[in-house]
Amino acid sequence: MKLIVLYLLYSLTLLFALRRRGLQSGIKTEHKTDGNNDNNEKPKRILVIGATGGTGQELVRQLLERDYEVTAFVRKPAKLKVEHPKLMIVQGNVLDYDSVEKAVRGHDAVLSALGHKRFFYPTQILSEGTQNLLRAMEKCNVLRFVCETSLGIGNSAGRFGLYYTFFTIPVILPFYFWDKALQEKLIAQSNTKWTIVRPGVLTNNPKQGEYRHGPDIGSYIWTVRIPRADVAKFMIRQITDDTYLKMAVAVAR
Ligand SMILES: NC(=O)c1ccc[n+]([C@@H]2O[C@H](COP(=O)([O-])OP(=O)(O)OC[C@H]3O[C@@H](n4cnc5c(N)ncnc54)[C@H](OP(=O)(O)O)[C@@H]3O)[C@@H](O)[C@H]2O)c1
Repeated sequence: MKLIVLYLLYSLTLLFALRRRGLQSGIKTEHKTDGNNDNNEKPKRILVIGATGGTGQELVRQLLERDYEVTAFVRKPAKLKVEHPKLMIVQGNVLDYDSVEKAVRGHDAVLSALGHKRFFYPTQILSEGTQNLLRAMEKCNVLRFVCETSLGIGNSAGRFGLYYTFFTIPVILPFYFWDKALQEKLIAQSNTKWTIVRPGVLTNNPKQGEYRHGPDIGSYIWTVRIPRADVAKFMIRQITDDTYLKMAVAVAR
């Protein structure tokens, strides 16, 4: 019994710490559309960070379908299963500033789906990598930045459902989420035109087309999910849509 109480106390402490450490900003409206509110001139050259990952490969495919010129920033080019005349592959590591700056130069926007699986010890891959990215963007005058983080941070803490709030995050992902919260803070402090996209649990299901998006999406009880393909679609929309400029927005089915 004592152990259960201690565990609950630990989970709740972590929940409130992630709420405080993460980004608080948000607006009070919920939308249920495909996120289309175009009002900007279309950028052409897009850099994708984490392009060999689940969301990253979706981003690359969908950007090419929409006729963008795409640069995929990857550690291992052989992992990227997409070929296209408008796709350029640049090898690098987000922890190596020089490789990041070379990749960023000359682009109109950066989309990041950076992630990793080193969950069980403290890491700063997300925050340090994102800091390199932001520094390079400011130096190269690349302004638009759309970054995928996660539900469960800042003002979305707790809205990843009970299972994630009381098991997955405190047991498996505490270090990872701690670093993600810092990643969000760094983005918010930057001079870029940023949007943070916080999805629920990611699936590899086909694109559904319709999903909910807004700062208050998620559930305190149930685990909410969304296909990576829909997250990618929503992130791409943000390049030309200022609805969520300088905001963290959650997305889920
Ligand atoms: N899984 C979920 O249910 C879930 C839910 C909410 C949010 N998220 C978040 O959503 C994001 C995307 O998740 P995902 O599962 O689609 O992605 P993923 O498959 O985990 O891919 C992550 C990408 O980041 C790249 N990467 C890692 N370290 C790097 C480094 N040092 N330099 C350059 N690239 C590096 C990986 O490259 P390699 O291929 O070389 O490893 C890979 O391309 C992550 O931040 C994840 O935490 C996930």
